[in-house]
Amino acid sequence: MRQAETKNLSDLMWVEKYRPIKIDDIVNQKEIVESLKNLMKEPAEMPHLLFTGPAGVGKTTTALCMSRQLLGEDWKRDTLELNASDERGIKMVRERVKKFASVFKIRTNEKDIRKFRIIILDEADEMTSEAQTALRRIIEDSSETTRFVIICNYLSQIIEPIQSRCAIFRFKRIEKEIIENYLKSLCKKEEIKYDDKAISQIFESTNGDLRHSINVLQTASVMGSITHSNVLASLGLSGKSTVNEIIKLAVSGKFNDARIKLLELTAVYGMSEFDFLKYAYESVYSLKLPHPEEFAALIAEYDYRLTHGSHPDIQLTAFLAQLSRIGTK
Ligand SMILES: Nc1ncnc2c1ncn2[C@@H]1O[C@H](COP(=O)(O)OP(=O)(O)O)[C@@H](O)[C@H]1O
Ligand SMILES: [Mg+2]
Repeated sequence: MRQAETKNLSDLMWVEKYRPIKIDDIVNQKEIVESLKNLMKEPAEMPHLLFTGPAGVGKTTTALCMSRQLLGEDWKRDTLELNASDERGIKMVRERVKKFASVFKIRTNEKDIRKFRIIILDEADEMTSEAQTALRRIIEDSSETTRFVIICNYLSQIIEPIQSRCAIFRFKRIEKEIIENYLKSLCKKEEIKYDDKAISQIFESTNGDLRHSINVLQTASVMGSITHSNVLASLGLSGKSTVNEIIKLAVSGKFNDARIKLLELTAVYGMSEFDFLKYAYESVYSLKLPHPEEFAALIAEYDYRLTHGSHPDIQLTAFLAQLSRIGTK
């Protein structure tokens, strides 16, 4: 097998390839990093943490860096990363916490003494307040063995009893200069030519979201170099217009082309399956297709399937196959 084929997705995507490993490499969040480093000096005293702020500014990465630093070599074994908006979220938390607690009790030798497990609960603001109430109880019952890092975009969506049990950290959008320097240094590492204006253009369009900025940069780089026109094309590619194109391909019966573009959009550009379906919904109506009621039913069905935790890539591919079928009949 050639080298290129053995590479996995995390090497291919710059957001993963360059994701910080150490908390000191997190940019733009100096005060937060300093406070967290202080807290980590006394791990036994460390409170649960609540990270809030916009997308793509380092919340999840910071949580992972902390786990690595606090738990050492076996950090992966003792860290549970959960997406709370997933239906299975709260059940999983309950089961996994229980399981960990029992391991904790039967430890046999000195070496196996684990300080605690870290549970990173992403997108907690997507949880219903019932689920959050259940979570609150889990947090209370497992405090001896588990530290929670709860992550959300909107603090106001987190119930007060959870807020009051955590130390809260507000992550900021990444500043212009920091994003621009970061992108330029990536260009140097990847040996890609850029012009300064194109780099500023990326900042202007991504609103302090470093993940989005890096993805736009990578897409533009595939087109050759980082020029104004490649950046514009890349911005268009990463969003709605591609979904539109995918839907058009699917309803005209070009299922395979649609499927390839879909995988590109979700795997390489990181569009979530829910965003895809939302844009697909808009696109189906703007295309004025002949059987709108069938498309509507289809979208509703897949929306349901996705929230019930089936494998998103498989579900969306099946969705495109169905679109093809309705579109060409
Ligand atoms: N403050 C930051 N410092 C360094 N890299 C960052 C930062 N914020 C985002 N990134 C980059 O963007 C990617 C996504 O960041 P992530 O931590 O998942 O953001 P969030 O959880 O806030 O949405 C990371 O893999 C990293 O490459
Ligand atoms: Mg995140």
